[in-house]
Amino acid sequence: MLKIYFNLTIILAFYTAYNIYMLNRYNFIMSRTTLIAEWPKDALDLTANISPFEDTALIKPQAFCGEKTFLLIFVESSVRNFLARQAIRETWGNSSRFNYPDFQKLHGHLKGTYYPPLKSRLQLYSEYLTGKDESLRASVRVLFIIGRSRTNEFLRQLREEADQHNDIIMEDFIDSYRNLTLKTVLALKHLSSSCYNTTAYVLKTDDNAFVNIPNLLHILLGGSMPTRNSFGKKVFRLTTTSNVLLGKKLSRAKPIVDVKNKWYMPHYMYPNNTYPAFLVGKGYLMSMDVVKRLYEAAWYTKVVHLEDVFVTGLCAVYAGVERMHSSLFPMFRSKRLCNYKNSIIRERPKGLSFFKVFNFVTNYSIKCTQSHKAETKPLS
Ligand SMILES: *[C@@H]1O[C@H](CO)[C@@H](O)[C@H](O)[C@H]1NC(C)=O
Ligand SMILES: *[C@@H]1O[C@H](CO)[C@@H](O)[C@H](O)[C@H]1NC(C)=O
Ligand SMILES: *[C@@H]1O[C@H](CO)[C@@H](O)[C@H](O)[C@H]1NC(C)=O
Ligand SMILES: *[C@@H]1O[C@H](CO)[C@@H](O)[C@H](O)[C@H]1NC(C)=O
Ligand SMILES: *[C@@H]1O[C@H](CO)[C@@H](O)[C@H](O)[C@H]1NC(C)=O
Repeated sequence: MLKIYFNLTIILAFYTAYNIYMLNRYNFIMSRTTLIAEWPKDALDLTANISPFEDTALIKPQAFCGEKTFLLIFVESSVRNFLARQAIRETWGNSSRFNYPDFQKLHGHLKGTYYPPLKSRLQLYSEYLTGKDESLRASVRVLFIIGRSRTNEFLRQLREEADQHNDIIMEDFIDSYRNLTLKTVLALKHLSSSCYNTTAYVLKTDDNAFVNIPNLLHILLGGSMPTRNSFGKKVFRLTTTSNVLLGKKLSRAKPIVDVKNKWYMPHYMYPNNTYPAFLVGKGYLMSMDVVKRLYEAAWYTKVVHLEDVFVTGLCAVYAGVERMHSSLFPMFRSKRLCNYKNSIIRERPKGLSFFKVFNFVTNYSIKCTQSHKAETKPLS
């Protein structure tokens, strides 16, 4: 009698397990069916929103890209983020203050553990540079791109802000998280049409990131950084001038099934089970040719609402641009402020203003030797 009960229990257990398994499988197959209301099935063509042959900007800087610019940083912002934009202008985005001479102040004590700029690149880019050696400076420009609010609220304040700083592009689309792809592609449109002959490199980022401009300039000029984990590995140095698409690379990432997740991806929008390699949207670097190629690829690529998957994944595949990984784009926020001294781009730490981070990074009596120690191979 006992034995029969025992057997029944086992059968029941198996039966339950089997049902749970089938239910999960069913959920998996049925998942990714929820629509994204803002991007209906029959409207996955971006060209309708881009108007390639028309200038649709509501606000644009005067004499936009009229000057030679070595590095243009476009910061994705939104209508209400007045304070973030102002904080960026007064901290890392102030390139008349925070420029290449700061590299020496940041890392001079580590000399011998990193490569200086390449002579050939200094020559090649001489029209973008002034001064030399420790007073070398590069022309850097920071621009903000925003959409509009549904009600055109704040339009007057924005015009005033734009008049005062001449650093805002406002485009005619409704600014929302689900329209981020549109925001980037419209930025690429303006850069391709106005900056192609005057700008060498473009960094895309957002208004919650801290960008270490001196470090980025050093890499663009062909130098290397004393980074973690570089021991024994090939030292990263930029030697090409075109075909550059660089950032934090994710390979074989899978579409997210959870409808409540902001990265949820419906099947109709992206039917494949894996994404092509792409660079995390917090920040990536492009040479100007790549800006144009990615923009043009966007005309022919079915849209996905995830900006980084779309631009640096799908459009890059279409345009035949390779994604390069660099550990200098760690993205994640860090409590150790030294990490802002020795990387190129990171999210601002929670609860700390741009001013706090900037004051730390530019306080050159604080030397961050610890994080470099024993992690880099001295150069002979
Ligand atoms: C940028 O830095 C320069 C030089 O330190 C300073 O004169 C200027 O006021 C700063 N600009 C902003 C917007 O903070
Ligand atoms: C994106 O912008 C377009 C153009 O303004 C608008 O029609 C659409 O509703 C916006 N989508 C979202 C998700 O806000
Ligand atoms: C850039 O230069 C090329 C060749 O000189 C010219 O054909 C093109 O119109 C220029 N583009 C812009 C945006 O000025
Ligand atoms: C989906 O995957 C298949 C097979 O791996 C590939 O041939 C196709 O190009 C992919 N489609 C997209 C849109 O990436
Ligand atoms: C720089 O850091 C040192 C050491 O922590 C501190 O004593 C000094 O007050 C700081 N300087 C400024 C200008 O914040």
